Amino acid sequence: MTERWRALGVVDELKQKPLRQVTIDKVAIALSYRDGKFGAISGRCNHAGGPLGEGKLSDDGYIVCPWHHWMFHRETGEARPGIPAIVPRHDLREQDGMLYVNLDPATKRVQAPHPPHSLTRKEDRKPGPLRLLGISTTAMDEAYPRYSTSDDLLQVALASGTEAGADSKLIRLSALKFRHCEGYYSKSAHACTWPCSITQMDPKDELTEVFEHLVFWADAVLVATPIRWGGPSSLYVKMVERMNSLQNQITLHDRVLIRNKSAGFIITGGQDNVQAVAGQMLMFFGELGFHLPPFPFIAHSRGWSAEDMENNQSYVRQDETLRASASDLAKRCLTEAARLVN
Ligand code: FES
Repeated sequence: MTERWRALGVVDELKQKPLRQVTIDKVAIALSYRDGKFGAISGRCNHAGGPLGEGKLSDDGYIVCPWHHWMFHRETGEARPGIPAIVPRHDLREQDGMLYVNLDPATKRVQAPHPPHSLTRKEDRKPGPLRLLGISTTAMDEAYPRYSTSDDLLQVALASGTEAGADSKLIRLSALKFRHCEGYYSKSAHACTWPCSITQMDPKDELTEVFEHLVFWADAVLVATPIRWGGPSSLYVKMVERMNSLQNQITLHDRVLIRNKSAGFIITGGQDNVQAVAGQMLMFFGELGFHLPPFPFIAHSRGWSAEDMENNQSYVRQDETLRASASDLAKRCLTEAARLVN
């Protein structure tokens, strides 16, 4: 035996578990046993390095990566037929009741060529006028839209941005179909990727539109939310959880995707808790890298006992001071963005 053969353990004991991850001399091995036969392939997935030996075995002998579910045959290391990708295979040998592995792989790692996701491009700003993005996070039935105080004030703000010479764009989360964050970060910080793992795996997921405009298009962003039971809207939270993929790049790779952009917030509620909602929005967007203009949010709430929603709506529709404050917020965000862009 060469120096690179290493003992894995007692054969009868190793037969007890269908799949395990073993690391010897810094070489990770996905060791499997099924139908009387051991298999050993690299324990490092081709995709983002997920621990293959901590995944699952499919009925037809493929190891399913625990991070994003790529599959490699447990004995050959080959991907599913039609995908020209290979994870290195390691030779095994039984001797005197012990199982040995050769740490030098018998085959080479092969990456299947695939075009990079459009969001992987460099986040250079395209020349042109300042760009103001509004994200409306109130939930409603798109087929039967209702009046929304937060959406109304956002539209006032965007119109003011257009008047000031900016390109303005409104994205309503209620019009997009997108999945919840499925907690890749909770598997491993490295399993939470940019672009977001779901964005990469599911071409039908429509949060791409938000990522595209937030990272590449906008110079200033206004996020509007109603207050629901003391917090921002459920759609806001759903979006923000997916944006963990942006923030995680800073934590893991010191890569700041949001640079030289400003953000402001519009918060309305029939009932109270403006300060708590503003606090978490300011914190999160600050953590992404956004700059805040002076007085970065406007809010409206008539308090805990104001259950008469119709009056709340007519107040927002008619109150000139509130509507002027939405316009002013847009202008402050654009002034800050102009300072950052130039
Ligand atoms: S599928 Fe294995 S790391 Fe993503």
